Amino acid sequence: MHTVIIGGTRGLGREVARHFSAQGHKVSVIGRKAPADADSQLPGVRYWLRDVTSDQLTATLDEALAYGGPVNHLVFLQRFKGEGDQWAGEMATSLNATRLAVEHLTPRFAAGEDCSVVLVGSIVGRFVSEGQPVGYHVAKGAVAQMAKFYAVTLGRKGIRVNCVSPCTFVKEENAEFYNSKSPAIQELFKETIPLGRMGTSGDSTGVIAFLCSPAASFVTGQEIVVDGGVSLLSQEALARKLRQV
Ligand SMILES: NC(=O)c1ccc[n+]([C@@H]2O[C@H](COP(=O)([O-])OP(=O)(O)OC[C@H]3O[C@@H](n4cnc5c(N)ncnc54)[C@H](OP(=O)(O)O)[C@@H]3O)[C@@H](O)[C@H]2O)c1
Repeated sequence: MHTVIIGGTRGLGREVARHFSAQGHKVSVIGRKAPADADSQLPGVRYWLRDVTSDQLTATLDEALAYGGPVNHLVFLQRFKGEGDQWAGEMATSLNATRLAVEHLTPRFAAGEDCSVVLVGSIVGRFVSEGQPVGYHVAKGAVAQMAKFYAVTLGRKGIRVNCVSPCTFVKEENAEFYNSKSPAIQELFKETIPLGRMGTSGDSTGVIAFLCSPAASFVTGQEIVVDGGVSLLSQEALARKLRQV
């Protein structure tokens, strides 16, 4: 099995890389900066330290194919974080790179096998978070629509395409901030989220793993929201919880 992970060097993507490594897959990871030392030795995992917005993307994917063979699973977790024009950066990183990678790899998936593409979106594809730029909102909305488009156009090739949209989650990099430095924010999440806790990167890893498993063999074109049910609440219900009335 060969799993390609775009944005698998840190955060949620690193956890996804660990999962597929533990499953015995060959895992090809693309990210710009090297992962932490412990991850650089994960069994079966090879890293390509490249920018997906550069003109090296298809050549990098070809190198990954030479390593791992035809693709079984393809997971996208990259988002723009950098200097310069946020809008252009987000479009190039989240949308252009994803389209190019999906279309370059389409003829290079494992023939006759259940293959899966997962695009990681966000609840800001549907809702507005004033702390995030407009480009991030637009890109995440578009990612969910891309999953539907490719689900329809690639279905006959045996490729399923889905989107996983988390709300804010705790990951290794921010665990100290949420768990010890900002217990008040944790409390806020506990009070408002129907499942009574903040989400973790593990919650989304589980859904990505499911979508890349035979258990999801008839699931395509879906956006699975991983938010503990918070987006089900009406504005009034949320306001009442916060004001305790
Ligand atoms: N964190 C949250 O609470 C949250 C909530 C909802 C949705 N999400 C979504 O979930 C996904 C993962 O989130 P995260 O917090 O784990 O992200 P993260 O820690 O910022 O990791 C993003 C990954 O993408 C890579 N990447 C970014 N730009 C790249 C580029 N131009 N070329 C190659 N690789 C690139 C990063 O590596 P380098 O920086 O080394 O390139 C890293 O491996 C993202 O799509 C995010 O929008 C996150």
